[in-house]
Amino acid sequence: MSHTMGYLDWTDALDVGVDAMNREHQRLIDLMNELHTGNERGENKAMLLSRLDKLAKWTVSHFSHEEAYLESIRYPKLTSHRRIHADLLRQLDGHVTSFRESDHKTLPKELFTFLKLWLTAHIQGIDAQYSPVRKSA
Ligand SMILES: [Fe+2]
Ligand SMILES: [Fe+2]
Repeated sequence: MSHTMGYLDWTDALDVGVDAMNREHQRLIDLMNELHTGNERGENKAMLLSRLDKLAKWTVSHFSHEEAYLESIRYPKLTSHRRIHADLLRQLDGHVTSFRESDHKTLPKELFTFLKLWLTAHIQGIDAQYSPVRKSA
């Protein structure tokens, strides 16, 4: 699969060793990059909100697929992983709500900082722990 250069690019450092999860992570990164591009291009607020909404929905479904996968392998740290997901969703929701209710027309830099950090830190630090081909961490 080919990806154009984005705000965040896929690298092997994000490989969690499970193809289905890698694909979903790539999709989330694509959606974040599209949101970033839309924001740079000055898309209107309704469009940006609909992109954000799409990203949030994909995140919810990714987390539930990932939790189902972890359950299927009887992952011992599933409970704390679930808690981390729920916390991330709360933070994302907070960002979306504050943008929706603000009079800002473009997305703040903090939102992208949050998204980028969340995607990289969560995938590399938390998701990578379930990797069957565990890199030494
Ligand atoms: Fe996760
Ligand atoms: Fe994940």
